[in-house]
Amino acid sequence: MDELLRKRFLLVTGKGGVGKSTVAWWLALQAAARGKRVLLANVRDGRQIASLSGLKEPLPRTAPVAVPGQPRVSVVEVHAHEALVEYASMVIKVPFVSRMVFDNKTFSGFLRSVPGLDAWAILGKAYFHAHRDTSGSQPRYDLVVFDAPATGHCLEMLAVPQVIERVAPPGLLRREATEACALLRDEARAAVVLVTLAEHFAQTESEELQAALGRLGMHMGLRLWNQMLPPDVSEEMLAALPDTPPLAALKQRLALYLKRSLQQRACQENLRSRAPAPERELPWLSAEALGPFLATPLPA
Ligand SMILES: Nc1ncnc2c1ncn2[C@@H]1O[C@H](COP(=O)(O)OP(=O)(O)OP(=O)(O)O)[C@@H](O)[C@H]1O
Ligand SMILES: [Mg+2]
Repeated sequence: MDELLRKRFLLVTGKGGVGKSTVAWWLALQAAARGKRVLLANVRDGRQIASLSGLKEPLPRTAPVAVPGQPRVSVVEVHAHEALVEYASMVIKVPFVSRMVFDNKTFSGFLRSVPGLDAWAILGKAYFHAHRDTSGSQPRYDLVVFDAPATGHCLEMLAVPQVIERVAPPGLLRREATEACALLRDEARAAVVLVTLAEHFAQTESEELQAALGRLGMHMGLRLWNQMLPPDVSEEMLAALPDTPPLAALKQRLALYLKRSLQQRACQENLRSRAPAPERELPWLSAEALGPFLATPLPA
């Protein structure tokens, strides 16, 4: 975990709804507990992060804000339109002019029709914060945790700088894409955190995603099994319970829990044997217990 949190850029992805934002928040807090200044950049839907972080407002779309009670953690929600305006401001150098251009409906429509440009704007903004965003001569953040889109969209997004690198004429766009590719493929600086559930569909998707990320040259930093049932119900415990009311109903429920828990473990073994990766797991917790659990620093 320490090695993972020493990197500059962590890309968190996985199937939709498996807990990517929750895990991204957990990683940000764990890095902050180790003294790192962290930016958590979420793509398009920061509600889970706003809720876990206790922010009263939605996440900002341009300048990151510090999280109350977590001075080392800043958050930002990345949207293609705002990211493109920021990018153009860097290129055109006059934010006012670029905003006029981008707020023009026809031009915005044209931009949205350029394949991959939206995706590049989003990835490029995350990359900018990891690579170029400085305060004085120091990087503003030690680590950027990028709460990326789910599987298919994430792969499409990651492919864009590689295409730009191949086809764009020499110039700023190609230079930026080349540097972004170099960061993403650099094991010393960047890694993927792949969040998965221990169930058949999530596991199949996770295996395919891991292979595809490998083909893109990205390093698998961590497979995070989320929502694992703690293994605290055993056959012995069940055998000790009577088959008569009132405890018979509880015994049936616990038997289901045990069955599900054993299925999860079998699923883990299955994926491990086919696609080994460094692993950790987070337990399945109630909404009230989840926040405090994530905020508890892991031993170094
Ligand atoms: N370990 C856990 N225990 C219990 N509930 C969890 C756990 N992890 C995530 N959840 C819950 O699962 C739901 C989905 O989590 P989250 O929003 O992090 O997923 P996501 O992968 O980011 O979703 P999306 O693909 O929509 O962005 C949330 O309600 C969250 O509180
Ligand atoms: Mg999310």
